[in-house]
Amino acid sequence: MAATTFDIGMVGLGVMGRNLLLNMADHGYGVAGLDTDASKVQALKSEGAGKKVEATVDVKAFVGLLKSPKAIILLVPAGKAVDAVIGQLTPLLNVGDLIIDAGNSQFKDTDRRARELDAKQLHFFGMGVSGGEAGARHGPSLMPGGPREAYEHVRPILEAVAAKVQGKPCVTYLGPGACGHYVKMVHNGIEYGLMQILAETYDLLHRGLDMDNFELAKIFEHWNQGELGSFLIEITAKIFRKLDSKTGKHLIDMVLDVARQKGTGKWTSQEAMDLQVPLLTVDAAVGLRDMSAYEQERATASKLLHGAHGAFGGDAKAFVQHLAHACYVATVVTYAQGFVMMRKASQTYGYNLNLEEVARIWRGGCIIRAALLDDIRAAFQAQPDLPNLLLDPKISQEIMKRQRELRSVVRAAIDLGIPAAGLMNALAYFDAYRTARLPSNLTQAQRDFFGAHTYERIDEKGTFHSRWDADFD
Ligand code: 6PG
Repeated sequence: MAATTFDIGMVGLGVMGRNLLLNMADHGYGVAGLDTDASKVQALKSEGAGKKVEATVDVKAFVGLLKSPKAIILLVPAGKAVDAVIGQLTPLLNVGDLIIDAGNSQFKDTDRRARELDAKQLHFFGMGVSGGEAGARHGPSLMPGGPREAYEHVRPILEAVAAKVQGKPCVTYLGPGACGHYVKMVHNGIEYGLMQILAETYDLLHRGLDMDNFELAKIFEHWNQGELGSFLIEITAKIFRKLDSKTGKHLIDMVLDVARQKGTGKWTSQEAMDLQVPLLTVDAAVGLRDMSAYEQERATASKLLHGAHGAFGGDAKAFVQHLAHACYVATVVTYAQGFVMMRKASQTYGYNLNLEEVARIWRGGCIIRAALLDDIRAAFQAQPDLPNLLLDPKISQEIMKRQRELRSVVRAAIDLGIPAAGLMNALAYFDAYRTARLPSNLTQAQRDFFGAHTYERIDEKGTFHSRWDADFD
């Protein structure tokens, strides 16, 4: 292939990089790949046969293949590998060239890299990519952030490869700095929350109602047709049907109950605490993944610590219906927390995020795509600065109609001894948010009592300190 004729480069030819690159080639773009692993380079060459695809292990040859201004996407593991690749590429690039980090990088790293590259007059983008292997190949949701002028250069390619919903691509320019990676981090936090809610739902149906995997599959298939319709519900139904070729049993029953994590959910919770945004469902999800890792202690404790447990004694059919409504409420509350966080981040970091657009590009391609995102999008369309989705007139009506069922599900979980921290925290968030006077007055009084931290009064401006153990000040 002639040099300098390729539209875009990809560093990292693992599952995500290779599939995204082939997706670009399908849309008629000339794409060049770089990887240190010769077998991956070879695999791409064979898979890309007949398309304008070239691949190499040589970084100089790779950069030489690209048209100027050059655009290079990185899909390498987050962390040191990103810095190492940038270090190799920068001496070979010219003013105005663009590097796009499409991995799950921590947004603070993206900010630092953007500053470092800006000093060299190179453009840098942090771009969230969601949808896994199939998404990368056939249409992911893309969340790019960085300098706007550089976006225009790659916009046609990104719009071509992104998932389409009602003909519109699930990609948009989100804003400056690290905001693309920030939005992807929150996406993953929501992903953790929703997965936790579904794990609890499974536990309640399976252990609580003694349902088998075929019954579970049917319930999730049914839910996927209605208001709960979403990618996560759809794959959950498929998981319950899958048989294990080794044992002939259901594969789900052969999977160890330890949930691993690469860290994006934890980052979301940590960052939410820094911003002082309550993110109760995501916090619970991260905590329960951590709890799952104590499998040996849990096995011991299960024999020692007795508490509530037993079969569900009520109307199973009604309970399944309640569970559907409980999932709906908890799901909305989880999205609501994520959107509040993005709103606060937008103000804090100057991202100027358009939350309607975020909801729009999450409707296709990504892991948290869901029918519900149409309502979320409509809510931000009607009121772009909506402080909380729970205040949207339509969404609040839907929540109020179903919150009673979330309560009854949480009560059942308590009676059955089934840990349902995601559902419980979603309910606690809803109840705390709608409480005009929280018991935080007591917290303040205690702080002032033991540490003279002062408190504010409801009837007068200013800060006050009292000697709480004296009768009067
Ligand atoms: C996506 C996923 C993707 C990845 C997660 C898994 O949007 O396509 O979120 O980014 O599957 O990083 O994260 P954990 O390993 O932390 O569960």
